[in-house]
Amino acid sequence: MKIEFLGHAGVCISTDKTKIVMDGWFTKNGAFDASWYQFPANHNYMENDWSDLTAVIVSHEHMDHLDPEFLSKIPENIPIYIPEYPSPNLSKKIKFLTNKDAIQLSLEKSHKIGDIDCKIWTEESPMNQDSIWVFKTNEKSILNTVDSRISLSQIKSIIEYIGNKPNLLLAQCSGASWFPVVYTQYESGKKINVSQKKKESKLNYVWSITEKLMPEHFVINAGPPAFLDNEIFYANDDPIFPNPEISKQWFIKNKYQNPIYAPMPGDVLDLTSNNYSKNFDIRKFFSWEDSQNYLKKYAKDMQSNIESVKSKIDNISNKNFHSKLEEYFKKMFSVNAYFNERINMTVLFDIDGPDGGKWIVNFSSKSHFKIFENNDHFDYKYSFHSKWLKRIIYEKLPWEDFFLSLRFVSWRDPDIYNDHLLGLLKFNDENATKAVESFEKSISNEVFSITTPNGENYEIEKFCPHAGASLESGIIKNDQIECSLHHYVFDLKTGNCINANCNLKTKKLDNS
Ligand code: FES
Repeated sequence: MKIEFLGHAGVCISTDKTKIVMDGWFTKNGAFDASWYQFPANHNYMENDWSDLTAVIVSHEHMDHLDPEFLSKIPENIPIYIPEYPSPNLSKKIKFLTNKDAIQLSLEKSHKIGDIDCKIWTEESPMNQDSIWVFKTNEKSILNTVDSRISLSQIKSIIEYIGNKPNLLLAQCSGASWFPVVYTQYESGKKINVSQKKKESKLNYVWSITEKLMPEHFVINAGPPAFLDNEIFYANDDPIFPNPEISKQWFIKNKYQNPIYAPMPGDVLDLTSNNYSKNFDIRKFFSWEDSQNYLKKYAKDMQSNIESVKSKIDNISNKNFHSKLEEYFKKMFSVNAYFNERINMTVLFDIDGPDGGKWIVNFSSKSHFKIFENNDHFDYKYSFHSKWLKRIIYEKLPWEDFFLSLRFVSWRDPDIYNDHLLGLLKFNDENATKAVESFEKSISNEVFSITTPNGENYEIEKFCPHAGASLESGIIKNDQIECSLHHYVFDLKTGNCINANCNLKTKKLDNS
């Protein structure tokens, strides 16, 4: 079995009889309305003859993994496989963008694609729809965690399925995020610190899974995208995540022992011969060390594509936009009462441009919508142009795709991540939110005891109140415990989460 790296998260996995492309993203139109671009460019793959493919896989719905132009180009007889998620968003999106029907593969069951066996896991909490794939032949195995958080029990069942440690692990040290780039509550020094902490946290997480999986080869897959539109070119200055080469050097500095790679498009790892061959052509004109000049030229080369994508963005006009917005949010309030209560905050939408205005949307047990008046309290603020909000409300643009485009600014106080707010905006669907509610309510009330470095004893819930990861592998520092899955930090004395909106049940025990 061998694997060719196609740029960003795209890979081509093949044997003599089978050829699968996973998460290929080659279009010159980028993703998220031309805000994200492949870095470095890999558009040449769009010209390949893909008629010999056995299948195409799309791991999740982010547009840097789902390229409508590529999916439309492949012959009709080549199946497009996706995981069976509780939300229909991914299959609907593929149908809408390509008019093709994707085939859902059930989870945690072995499937056969050509002569390759594969099995899929998804993130344990249905809040985060991303997937983990194992591909195996009689001799070799590949584990692609994409951008998923993987739990200890999943690691155990993956190793059981493979029958050993994986020969190759693909994991991302970057991800899809807009934090802290668009947040205005930080002065620049603080923002750099927050950004650095986030990068470290991601690297530490990936380190922890490599330690548990001990793969023979480890590939840092995908990296931060390039932002080539003038409006958001600034976001290249302090990328949200480290590039694959920086991540690789971080692992080496921390004494990572096994072979590790930061691939370029066109590199190939042959697992049968254990040979990694580099694409020297791309290295003649691209290196991570000198990417600034490359970015400037790349932005110039892509300007006509960016303009073309932006010119197709509808300018919907609606003089009665207030009523449309009110109807939209009132409908959203009735999707899931549990979500409203978990969000429990007031959001100000500060919208400029035609038909713009300021609106207060309160999500709570007493959800309500109104025009903003001076002195109205709010915890969260989104500021952006009305053309984007209209596209969202008229269901032409998913909320998460818009957030990932970075074409907005945001502010929040308290400075905590509200997972349920994003969840409700992105799903806006009864079944998908019900799946999250059932999962969160089903998490066991089991408790266990811990001792802090200061010798204090606490009894705490065994499972993280965020998404159910076992806190037995949490990191205890002073009087806090950090969940290793999404890095929520809980104050052991109060149970309060200091960086998100949830609470852990804790009880101080007598030291006697
Ligand atoms: S499961 Fe997400 S922070 Fe713990």
